[in-house]
Amino acid sequence: MEIVLNVDSSGGPTTVLVRAPGRVNIIGEHTDYNGGLALPTITQSYLTMRLSTLPPDEDCWKIFAEDRECLVNYCPADGYDGEEDWMGFFTSAYHYIDRNKLAFRSVSIHFHSDIPPGAGMSSSSALTCALAAGLNALFGWGKDSTQLVHMASQVEHGYGVQGGLLDQMAIFFGKTGQAMRIDFSDLSFGYVPIGVAGYSWVLWDSLERRSLVQTPFNQRRREVDAVLHQLGKDHWQAVSEQQIDALDTLSPATRERCRYIIRENERVDAMVAALADNDIPGVGQILYASHEGLRTRYEVSSPALDRVVDHLKRLPQCAGARMMGGGFGGMVISLIETRALPQIVDSFRRIPEYNRASGSFYHIVV
Ligand code: GLA
Repeated sequence: MEIVLNVDSSGGPTTVLVRAPGRVNIIGEHTDYNGGLALPTITQSYLTMRLSTLPPDEDCWKIFAEDRECLVNYCPADGYDGEEDWMGFFTSAYHYIDRNKLAFRSVSIHFHSDIPPGAGMSSSSALTCALAAGLNALFGWGKDSTQLVHMASQVEHGYGVQGGLLDQMAIFFGKTGQAMRIDFSDLSFGYVPIGVAGYSWVLWDSLERRSLVQTPFNQRRREVDAVLHQLGKDHWQAVSEQQIDALDTLSPATRERCRYIIRENERVDAMVAALADNDIPGVGQILYASHEGLRTRYEVSSPALDRVVDHLKRLPQCAGARMMGGGFGGMVISLIETRALPQIVDSFRRIPEYNRASGSFYHIVV
């Protein structure tokens, strides 16, 4: 995340420019909200936001979403009853500021984004992280990046999805070409190079869009949180499969969800080791195993995501692939031979939906 301040003659910032990337996750899906492990990095697409203070007598926020050419004059005293769903993040941010009694004046905010919305690349978190970082810089709240990670997450929770901190951590601390091995039991992290000579990490669009708030995301979280509570544990890294097997009150579906989380945490460190050893078949097997777990045990994949993974699995130039992010649509992440990229793109174009798709249906991560 980049933040640039323009300072006036008295030393106070008048304009703040923020550039927030999207989030890519190599592995470690649905493990962040229960103290597990994950390996995220960032996209090469960004949300850019410009924030400026308005004259003191103005009581409203002037928010301009450039991509939609939509200007909203949001006056918190009157609430917001318009139809722009993204405004939910701004009203939630206002409630956070009000609740926490943070110093505030009216602002003008312009933003635009190249991160595809609803595609599992955290376009919403890029918005809430940019907003938290921009307001913090403009009004001198003095919050550090970790505090802003929590603020952005609470603003997002205020609008529905009870996600963990995966997206916000990647957006604030992520670096191109490296992943972060994050331990969500204490938020500690270290960087792991993800470049593999002759190979590229590429995202493929399932062409299925969703808003996570309309999916069973929160339900999955409640289901596995309840088991953790039953076991009296704080996080899943402290739970073994034997402990799950010994719980005879669990439904078969819940037992499978728990198994998935335990194995996905193990896969994160297996991936770190496979990357360090340049073990390309090993990386591929871990990706496919993660997808199988998400599909059959955690049940957050979709036919459109499975179709992309199945298609890539048939291509020898693809080392491995899996659905990425919250699921129920969005992107598939893969490791493919770089020189085969044009051939693989052509193979997708032979599928009618991709042939008809407008715009790009793949994104190169690194
Ligand atoms: C969404 C959530 C994240 C994380 C992922 C799944 O992106 O916002 O916190 O749970 O899904 O790994």
